[in-house]
Amino acid sequence: KLRSVVLGLGSYLPKRIVSNFDLEKVLETTDEWIVQRTGIRQRHVAAEDEPTSQLGLYAARAALADAGLTAADLDLVIVATSTPDYTFPSVATQVQAALGMTHGAAFDLQAVCSGFVYALATADKFLLSGSHKRALVIGAETFSRLVDWTDRTTCVLFGDGAGAVVLEAQHGEGTARDRGVLTSHLRSDGRHRDKLYVDGGPSTTRTVGHLRMAGREVFRHAVGMVADVVTEAFRATGTTAADLDWFVPHQANRRIIDASAEKLGIAPGKVVITVDLHGNTSAASIPLALAVARDDGRIKQGDLVMIEAMGGGFTWASALIRW
Ligand code: ACO
Repeated sequence: KLRSVVLGLGSYLPKRIVSNFDLEKVLETTDEWIVQRTGIRQRHVAAEDEPTSQLGLYAARAALADAGLTAADLDLVIVATSTPDYTFPSVATQVQAALGMTHGAAFDLQAVCSGFVYALATADKFLLSGSHKRALVIGAETFSRLVDWTDRTTCVLFGDGAGAVVLEAQHGEGTARDRGVLTSHLRSDGRHRDKLYVDGGPSTTRTVGHLRMAGREVFRHAVGMVADVVTEAFRATGTTAADLDWFVPHQANRRIIDASAEKLGIAPGKVVITVDLHGNTSAASIPLALAVARDDGRIKQGDLVMIEAMGGGFTWASALIRW
């Protein structure tokens, strides 16, 4: 039975760090307010000459090096992003070119904060179909370019960064103990568009627009949606919260993460938190968090890792991975 196994993981954060104290100087906000409501203490912000494709490329190179592979070994590149360099061509084709890759297929996928889980699930289905052998899945974002820096209710929440994994189709027994993506669950409901959206686009305003959010409304829906898709993943694989080694949620808000883990009965010690250091990096947050927990020795080969996200659309999604 075919399985998509994680061969490599890499990430990249822009050098410039903006702390809550830095924001206090330019906005009517306080470190205390931001930390108490969100758990965020700082975020990384990309340089002017550092577009999303650049962040994605650095993460991609790190993931390939980690896998001991080169671009020649890949046949699929998927980039999850809502902050592309240009409307087109895709970030994925730019990363593909920068990697020196002229074969295979590359495309972007947009599911906002759920983008990385959607992209991983999409790559998994390509690999399981037998059509492709090795996929690079990247989450890369520059939300600092999309937020309205005069709106303190949103701009304090977001940061820039990128993370990537390399997946390979491998034959195995297909049990829950075998490595790879065990299951994925994707959901969306477009009726919620007004709660989290960008107020511009090429075919309406002909501008890029700014992120707009009804924070309290998003919060109200997030925990239930996340719990539903994670429960589906447990049900599909006959696993429970007790079987998990690590819970790596999308990093939007510490309170959403804690409430989700509590509702699902996941022990606090299994929850990976990076929102304090990275802010909300949308589609990049999960691979960035995976990289932190793998690099500090928490996530090890053979561990059972649940990832989940919820974001604009609404979209929400989960995937269970035997690392
Ligand atoms: N600094 C200081 N005060 C602020 C700030 C700020 N940065 N932002 C808002 N306030 C004020 C408001 O103006 C308001 O003042 P008022 O009572 O005088 O009108 C007060 O704080 C409370 O505002 P609320 O919006 O009601 O605050 P709330 O407790 O809901 O917290 C927050 C806001 C943090 C956005 C919260 O709703 C939240 O976390 N929502 C989840 C949304 C989220 O995380 N989205 C991320 C993107 S979606 C995703 O990735 C899933």
